[in-house]
Amino acid sequence: MIDVPELALVALVGISGSGKSTFARTHFKPTQVLSSDYFRGLVADDENDQSASAAAFDVLHYVAGKRLAAGRLTVVDATNLQSHSRAGLVKVAREHDVLPVAIVLDVAEALAWERTGSRPDRTFGRQVLTRMHRDLRRSLGSLAREGFRKVHVLRGPDEIAATEIRYEKLY
Ligand code: GTP
Ligand code: MG
Repeated sequence: MIDVPELALVALVGISGSGKSTFARTHFKPTQVLSSDYFRGLVADDENDQSASAAAFDVLHYVAGKRLAAGRLTVVDATNLQSHSRAGLVKVAREHDVLPVAIVLDVAEALAWERTGSRPDRTFGRQVLTRMHRDLRRSLGSLAREGFRKVHVLRGPDEIAATEIRYEKLY
C-alpha cells in the first residue's frame, strides 16, 4: 500500500519494460495519465520518434500544468530516468503548489529485456536498456534531493503487482 496525495503530480520512473504503462492503466483513469509515447504521437505521428521528444514534453508539461491548475491528479508515464527530465516535472508541480511524487518500478534488466523483446514497437538494443538501468540506479539516490516529496520504490514484479494506492487527503 502506498500513500499518494489526492492532488499530486506522480512521476512513474522505470526502464523500458518495467511495467509503467501497465501500472498506470491498472491504477489510474486514462485521462489522468500523460504518456510520453502519446504526446510523441500527437506532435510527430509516431510514438517512437525520439527526435520529437522535446516537442512532446513541451506539450506534456503544458497539459500537466493545466490539469494541476484545475486540481486534478496527474500521472506522467515516461521513463523519467534523467534528472533533467524530472526537473521539468518538479518545476511544473511547484508552479502549481502541488506535491511531486515518484513511483519507481525497479525490475531486473533481464526481465525488462524479455518483455520488450515481444513488443514490435520497442526495437532498441540491449545496450540501451543497460544504460537505462544504470540511470535508474543513479536516480534512486537523487530523487528525494530533486524535490520529490515522496519516493515510493517498488522492487520486482510481485511487489509491483501487489501494490495498492491509498489517497491521502490534503488539508
Ligand atoms: P516502456 O513504455 O517501453 O517504457 O515500457 P513500460 O514500462 O511502460 O512497460 P509496459 O507496461 O508496457 O510493460 C511491458 C510489457 O510487460 C508488456 O507487454 C506488459 O504486458 C508486460 N507486463 C507489465 N507488467 C506486467 C506484470 O506485472 N506481469 C506480467 N506478466 N507482465 C507484465
Ligand atoms: Mg510504456
